[in-house]
Amino acid sequence: MQKQYFKENVVYQIYPRSFCDSNGDGIGDLPGILSKLDYLKELGVGIIWLSPVYKSPNQDMGYDVSDYLDINPEYGTLQDMDTLIAEAKKRGIRIIMDLVVNHTSDEHQWFIESKKPNSPYRDYYYWKEGRKNNKKPPNNWQSMFAESAWKFDREVGLWYLHLYGDKQVDLNFHNPKVIDEVKKILRFWLDRGIYGFRCDVINQIYKTTLKNGKQRLHQTGREHYLNQEGNHRILRELHEEVFSKYDCMTVGETYMVDYQNARRFLDGELDMVFQFDHVSVDRRKTPVFARKYEPRRMKKILFGWQNNIAWNTNYLENHDQLRSIPRFGDEKKYYLQSGKMLAMMIMFLKGTTYVYQGQEIGMTNIGTTDMSLVKDISAHNVYSLLRKLKIPHKMALKLVDNNNRDNARTPMQWNGQKNAGFSNGEPWLMLNPNYPQINVEKSQKDEASIYHFYKKIIALKKETPALCYGEFISLVTSGNLMAFLRTFGNDEYTIILNLSKKRIKNPLFLRGQVIVANYEGVDNYEGKVWLEPFEGALIKTR
Ligand code: GLC
Ligand code: CA
Repeated sequence: MQKQYFKENVVYQIYPRSFCDSNGDGIGDLPGILSKLDYLKELGVGIIWLSPVYKSPNQDMGYDVSDYLDINPEYGTLQDMDTLIAEAKKRGIRIIMDLVVNHTSDEHQWFIESKKPNSPYRDYYYWKEGRKNNKKPPNNWQSMFAESAWKFDREVGLWYLHLYGDKQVDLNFHNPKVIDEVKKILRFWLDRGIYGFRCDVINQIYKTTLKNGKQRLHQTGREHYLNQEGNHRILRELHEEVFSKYDCMTVGETYMVDYQNARRFLDGELDMVFQFDHVSVDRRKTPVFARKYEPRRMKKILFGWQNNIAWNTNYLENHDQLRSIPRFGDEKKYYLQSGKMLAMMIMFLKGTTYVYQGQEIGMTNIGTTDMSLVKDISAHNVYSLLRKLKIPHKMALKLVDNNNRDNARTPMQWNGQKNAGFSNGEPWLMLNPNYPQINVEKSQKDEASIYHFYKKIIALKKETPALCYGEFISLVTSGNLMAFLRTFGNDEYTIILNLSKKRIKNPLFLRGQVIVANYEGVDNYEGKVWLEPFEGALIKTR
């Protein structure tokens, strides 16, 4: 067994814009994060993932980078970043950054240069002649944000490719110079002391051809750029030439990946991948359409991944997903129980656990009631598309809400005072009005809170080798009941989780000490007949 830092430590994702504002401009920033390092240390996390803090015009809130080697002035300076890295280190916390290189902002110097016909940067991007005398885009691909993936530039007289927003221009990874630039970026930050990268949409960077794609409702063209051979080759090169020279970790955001491809990414390319199957369980093929959440399917998907790849990422939330309690638990009737059960699920499955800011205090969704308050570009694009399709306003709002990323991005709720303690000024995005009830200060005072539960099980995971390195063995139980073992040497732990809001008969005879449970006063599962709604426990069975 090879000991590895990222296998023993929980990752905490910070969305910097919404975490903590130090200077009252309503925008979270690096000094704000610095002021909360002690909070994170106390929570017990060992790694912070920072969503992008680079220079950016913010069409997609930092995922459109205009300078990879500098910090967005809204967030601070390079020096603030150095201080943050050093102060985190003092507290035993390492920092990973977001690497967003599928595309740059259209305000990046490379793109601006690339508009000149003979510029060496021309070939950094996909500048193409359109079809039908340049009147129609070069192919039928769709952007992920519900529009054509091509935009015509009048000045240049050509079209450029953007798989996301129209200010997020896809880089051309057929050009070796682009790969060299990426290596430069990686070394620049690794040499500054960061511990690695979460690699944004990294399984789409290589476009094998620019041929028309098979027509679909969503993401036409994807068979030409998802998980391509060239993609694997580039990642292998980055690993060999850069990552393998540092003590670092990489996790790829790999939308639409199967076991086989994931295994390839994990073999000499990346340390981990984020698959999306389990957070698509309540969505139809076209993700604006929701389907009823069925816990049994969640279990099946997660067990599938546990059994098919060596090391997983266990997460339920991030800055693109809805909050997990209203989604997979029960916000009204079983708020605490379901919040804690979901926490156990991601903490005790095999793999690295990722917790998104606010998840540890059980933050919930804000909903979508007024498009003029929405900041998420994809929500706006989807709304316009639905309206174009003549879907009535109310219905469109409802559909947009299924994926409105603002739900996860409302400011962190620190206390019950003005603006939840997030900022003295006007927050860039509205707060969830439930902050007087759900906030850090209140959670810390209440021993029964979701926060204390997270703190407890984060510490437990860290000190228990079976929960980090142990084998995963699934147990066969009825649909909505999830049960599995983690074994290591002579130690065996059994995890039992009722994923549903219905009581379930306990089919297992579990002799041993109850180490954690989310229902008060349960210290014995030997003869326990019923599992209550969302009841779960970790039992030392050997
Ligand atoms: C990833 C990010 C998302 C962003 C997109 C384009 O999916 O998580 O927030 O919009 O990439 O960079
Ligand atoms: Ca600020």
